[in-house]
Amino acid sequence: MKILAIETSCDETAAAVTEGAKVLASVKWTQEVHAKYGGVVPALAKRAHEERIDQIIEQALFKAKTQVGEIKAIAVTAGPGLAIALEVGVKKAKELAEMYDKPLIPVNHIEGHILSAMAGQEGEREGAELRLPCAALVISGGHTQVIWVEKIGKYKILAESLDDDIGEALDKGARMLGLPYPGGPELEKLAAKGDPKRYMLPLPMARRKVKAFSYSGLKTAMYRLVETTKGGNRDLGEKEKSDLAASYQARVFEHLTRITRNVLGEMKGGISELLVGGGVAANTKLRGELETLGRELSIKVHYPENTVLCTDNAAMIGVAAGYKFSRGEYLTGQEIEKIDRRPRWRVDSGESF
Ligand code: KG4
Ligand code: ZN
Repeated sequence: MKILAIETSCDETAAAVTEGAKVLASVKWTQEVHAKYGGVVPALAKRAHEERIDQIIEQALFKAKTQVGEIKAIAVTAGPGLAIALEVGVKKAKELAEMYDKPLIPVNHIEGHILSAMAGQEGEREGAELRLPCAALVISGGHTQVIWVEKIGKYKILAESLDDDIGEALDKGARMLGLPYPGGPELEKLAAKGDPKRYMLPLPMARRKVKAFSYSGLKTAMYRLVETTKGGNRDLGEKEKSDLAASYQARVFEHLTRITRNVLGEMKGGISELLVGGGVAANTKLRGELETLGRELSIKVHYPENTVLCTDNAAMIGVAAGYKFSRGEYLTGQEIEKIDRRPRWRVDSGESF
């Protein structure tokens, strides 16, 4: 049962063909036009999606050695995300569903990140088995959430950020060190060469048992530290830069694991599985720290096996759609016309479309 999935919620134009949790093809084009602005510019994202979407869909179908006629259903990210960017994917998905008379499955982007941990590509583990209920950790540019997954479509937010999200905090810290956007992966490389103990940064909300994330104080402290270290207009030395990167990244992750421990450690009845998704889950250092936490709490931690399935992609949308389809959650005929983008669609809204 093949699904063609489309994702245009932010700055990646992506399409994929999936079958259950198996990824037959996943193609994405990262829009470089935003790099010089240090963040995503919605109008530019929309135009870039429009320019590339057809080509990306064709490539995904070609790689999966299939065509739209052989596809069982079309899936698309309906939200949350940038309204005018989402619109491009939703319009295209509706067009294809109507033209080829296929069911349409609108998917929540966060639900996609949650279920991405189950996805497997050719030559890797072929999709893991989903055991519910479980917990999920979504860590990306716009989300830092611990989520209770009762069943597909039924989610409860157990903890989230009061201000900046983790990916945003990493991106901003990276920018202070003169690294290009997106900063998370660049900071990871630099931090790998540095000493995380050289600089002292405050641990956010260090009081015991707090169950919310907060990164804005740490970010401000990093800004001051960088300015003090520069001491005027002097450029930072290579060693200073990598030590600053390592010290900052370590604190960002320490806060994440601490709060996650507070939440998961106290769950009634306990949990045995944690699904981790979102761009920041691509970080090797963090994966190691979450594994350690998993061992401590006797929780099995799942990630997308390939890190390209952590950052925004359409394969995770296809995998989530596969679960939804098997529950009969799809639209056909006249219902398709009513579907619209939902920029603020919360994953815990309980609404399947
Ligand atoms: O999931 P994603 O692609 O988009 C959102 O929905 O936000 O996540 C993007 C975020 C960016 O903040 C980026 O810096 C971060 O994920 N990221 C990383 C790594 N790769 C991407 N952060 C830390 N280490 C990485 N290797
Ligand atoms: Zn995302």
